[in-house]
Amino acid sequence: MKEGTHILRGLYMRLYLQKLSIADGRLIYDMLQEIESNANGFYNTVKGMSYDEYKSWINKNIDMSNGIALEDWMVPQTTYWLFMDEMPVGCGRIRHWFNESLEATGGHIGYAISVSQRGKGYGNELLRLLLEECYEMGIECVQVGANKDNKPSNKVILHNGGVLVKESEYKNFYHIYTNGHHLVEDIW
Ligand SMILES: CC(C)(COP(=O)(O)OP(=O)(O)OC[C@H]1O[C@@H](n2cnc3c(N)ncnc32)[C@H](O)[C@@H]1OP(=O)(O)O)[C@@H](O)C(=O)NCCC(=O)NCCS
Repeated sequence: MKEGTHILRGLYMRLYLQKLSIADGRLIYDMLQEIESNANGFYNTVKGMSYDEYKSWINKNIDMSNGIALEDWMVPQTTYWLFMDEMPVGCGRIRHWFNESLEATGGHIGYAISVSQRGKGYGNELLRLLLEECYEMGIECVQVGANKDNKPSNKVILHNGGVLVKESEYKNFYHIYTNGHHLVEDIW
């Protein structure tokens, strides 16, 4: 399990990633209701869904992670939850590889922290843990995109060793070499 340590009000908290699974229930559902449906290009289709709809969405995402029932334009994608102790505080996605359209417009990784938990350092830690997953999946060079006006996301990427490689009118594209990201401190 990918873990980090986070200090909040003098207490050590355990931050870790958990893969989306059939066991996911209300805690995750409630956390996802706290993320915008389009958070700067991070699409959260669970926002506004009923609990039953969310449970079938979970099944679809397990299939998506295993490359089952993908449409032509899709690549396998795995979803993770960021937990702070027993509480889910964020969501991350890793696309296992790129196709031409993703390379031109997106990134391997997408992430969001629930609104009430932003600004506490969790975003930096979420990307760090997702990069560790990418390393284990054999993705050496990760591309991450961030809208130019999305200051927190650009900072999260730079904090994790992102190097700006290209720009479009509205978006910055960064590369991060996953074997180099351990330079980031685990504890601050
Ligand atoms: C981007 C996001 C994940 C950052 O998460 P977070 O937990 O708030 O970020 P952190 O607290 O770890 O802060 C990360 C950096 O952003 C800075 N930051 C945080 N909020 C900020 C704000 N409102 N304005 C400017 N900088 C900000 C922090 O100072 C920190 O910078 P540092 O590493 O240089 O100290 C969060 O804002 C979010 O979920 N946004 C919506 C989804 C999104 O935009 N996802 C990215 C597109 S895929």
